[in-house]
Amino acid sequence: MKRTLGTCYYPEHWPEAQWAEDATRMAEVGLTWVRIGEFAWSRLEPTPGDLRFDWLDRATETLGAAGLKVVLGTPTATPPRWMLDKHPDMLAVDAEGRPRGFGSRRHYCFSHEGYLRESARITRLLAERYGANPHVAAWQTDNEYGCHDTVVSYSDAARVAFRAWCTARYGTIKALNDAWGNVFWSMDYNEFNQIDLPTLTVTEPNPAHALAFRRFSSDQVARFNAVQVEIIRELSDAPISHNYMGREVAFDHYDTGRQMEIATWDSYPMGFLEDRIEADAAHKRRYARQGDPDFQAFHHDLYRAVGQGRWWVMEQQPGPVNWAPYNPTPLPGMPRLWAWEAFAHGAEAVCYFRWRQAPFAQEQMHAGMLRPDSAPAQAFHEAAQVARELADLPEVEAGQAPVGLVFDYAAAWAWAVQPQGRGQDYFRLVFETYRALRKLGQSVDILPPDTDDLTGYRLVLAPGAVTLSDRFQAAMAAHDGPVILGPRTNAKTAEMHMPVPLPPAIPGLDVTVARVESLRPDMPVPLAGGGHLHLWREELEGAEEVILATAEDGQPVAMRAGHVTYLGGWLDEAALIRLLSAALQETGVKTVAMPEGLRQRQAGGIRFLINYGAEPVTFEGVTLPPAGVHWMR
Ligand code: GAL
Repeated sequence: MKRTLGTCYYPEHWPEAQWAEDATRMAEVGLTWVRIGEFAWSRLEPTPGDLRFDWLDRATETLGAAGLKVVLGTPTATPPRWMLDKHPDMLAVDAEGRPRGFGSRRHYCFSHEGYLRESARITRLLAERYGANPHVAAWQTDNEYGCHDTVVSYSDAARVAFRAWCTARYGTIKALNDAWGNVFWSMDYNEFNQIDLPTLTVTEPNPAHALAFRRFSSDQVARFNAVQVEIIRELSDAPISHNYMGREVAFDHYDTGRQMEIATWDSYPMGFLEDRIEADAAHKRRYARQGDPDFQAFHHDLYRAVGQGRWWVMEQQPGPVNWAPYNPTPLPGMPRLWAWEAFAHGAEAVCYFRWRQAPFAQEQMHAGMLRPDSAPAQAFHEAAQVARELADLPEVEAGQAPVGLVFDYAAAWAWAVQPQGRGQDYFRLVFETYRALRKLGQSVDILPPDTDDLTGYRLVLAPGAVTLSDRFQAAMAAHDGPVILGPRTNAKTAEMHMPVPLPPAIPGLDVTVARVESLRPDMPVPLAGGGHLHLWREELEGAEEVILATAEDGQPVAMRAGHVTYLGGWLDEAALIRLLSAALQETGVKTVAMPEGLRQRQAGGIRFLINYGAEPVTFEGVTLPPAGVHWMR
């Protein structure tokens, strides 16, 4: 497959006289794609019903005439101010009951029926006008669902919709009371109309109630997206996508992913390093101009799964951003490296955000490919280099990785609803597992929790997957390669009860989690053979072989029966690497200790080496400069 580049452009921000020159320059740099439209509602419909699509016609025509392909975004992330006059109750409401007002973006509640109709209306108008436009080669729904914490809303609209959702899910109020365990503290309801949203309770709400609300909130996102997808699909043959985020778990991306052809995501490596990763100051300092060496790769693999193979980077950091706690400039070569890393993980396209830095409003301090005065900035030059290199690149295929790692959004909600201690976070656990695998040189596929076929995987892991699906359990039983479960895997039922027989309750595995504890950060437990348990510990009972134990008293930490291992604790990196390298070597997968900052990915027949380090590194006879990328057959 031919890999391509693109950018994000806002014709409505610039004088029309500038568009043609911009388009020509984009094409000259070697860009294929240009995404437009996703925030333009107030200029498409300045007052209700007054449609002004003529400028978008001309913008699309100008870009298309330069040979560019347009990704057209629906503008529903930014309803114009008049929309609030029409629908005063359309805003999302925060957990304290305050409306989240106008003046930035994403100011709507997914449950508001009136706004849903408005979003369907504008989507239909766009799809009717551009559905068959030869330059519109892909669509984007809305923009970054969940950004600025906008999935969960405690509005009246959400309350009404949640009651209907509960009625549909549980059927009778008795079934709901039983499912949630409402006998506890006399929380029983007499009818669905008494159910409130789980906020402003005296102490914590019932975790089953809170989990149901998370599930509902996720379903509302999928419902909102499906409405746009159906309309576009009816009127256009172009593929449909949505641009997801880094470390956003408030809705189940596999659900929306199944609705569309392509998953895309917005990759801001340096912003993420500063505000989205648990790491010490030394790590953040070391990678301050590069971003974390595993965070982007994790999301590339995650969104490859969400897109069922087809995925892009829709927004690639071009230079300093404006929104992280610190916003340094990238090391020379990083905008190029980030693009290459995405291609190495199978991205079809990488689009730099944005074409020209806007000298006004919230993001005026956010770099673009061009400076505000239209002079080329860092990403302009580096994108041109990537375009030249892509012309010579042999075909890259993502290929199946030897390792499969389950990522389950519902598990993230269950951990959040009942953490049982500070710092307990599902994403962090899975990401640390991913990082350890990468430090051993592994390429990884992320697997959805309902994966029903593990064929081809040499090692499968499902850490922290709170409720294992029947499909996955059947796949596991049919699979003959090693599977590592735990900690907290299969620890709760889907309704947030502790199951009896006690977890993990895997047929054929005589292991029982007898007791659990969360640990203060200063309470690590040393393990025999090196490394520590920290944060979370389980007491394991059972007759199976002990493969990891505590140093002091030899208590089992990991036990195994045949190909299934259960890990009863949160391992630090040293212990995790020990466990994983043993499991990999046993199944015949070669492991390598990757030097600091260097990572590799096997993409079909091509092996990529990527140096996130600020120093040159030599590995297997190849020397990579800082921000270096190297590929070989
Ligand atoms: C993304 C968003 C863009 C822009 C960008 C800035 O989250 O989709 O519209 O705000 O961040 O880094």
